[in-house]
Amino acid sequence: LAKAAHGQSWMEAAPVFIVCVADVRCRIQDEPGLEVKETSPHFALKQVIRDTAIAVEHAVLEAESMGLGTCWVAWYEQADVRPILGIPADKFVVAILPLGYPAETPGERPRKKLDEIVMFEKWEERSGKA
Ligand SMILES: Cc1cc2nc3c(=O)[nH]c(=O)nc-3n(C[C@H](O)[C@H](O)[C@H](O)COP(=O)(O)O)c2cc1C
Repeated sequence: LAKAAHGQSWMEAAPVFIVCVADVRCRIQDEPGLEVKETSPHFALKQVIRDTAIAVEHAVLEAESMGLGTCWVAWYEQADVRPILGIPADKFVVAILPLGYPAETPGERPRKKLDEIVMFEKWEERSGKA
């Protein structure tokens, strides 16, 4: 999997990978032979990727609360990752979470100021005093 994810060899240090898969079949049942990929136009695929992403981030938060470390890995192509695990073409791998006890405790990462990313009432209203 690390090789399939563009050879991200750092992943190999983790003892466990959680592979998080969106199943579009819960929304599309009437398209036999459906294959989903990065460029698929299906709105239902966006919905199931959204729903799975919520679950992925909850797994990340739960791991953190248990003293474990994870990292979102999504830099791969579906066609490279799916065959390794026998995942059918109508499923979309949203993320791979390498999971393990962290070897280091990095300092806080820089964060944008809230007024760079928060708008009030209308798009581009940044002051909070619209
Ligand atoms: C959708 C998505 C895909 C990511 N894919 C990778 C990846 O393939 N390899 C990697 O090392 N980090 C990946 N990351 C993790 C980021 O590099 C970064 O560690 C993480 O978003 C936290 O960064 P921050 O502390 O600056 O917010 C990904 C993050 C997101 C949100």
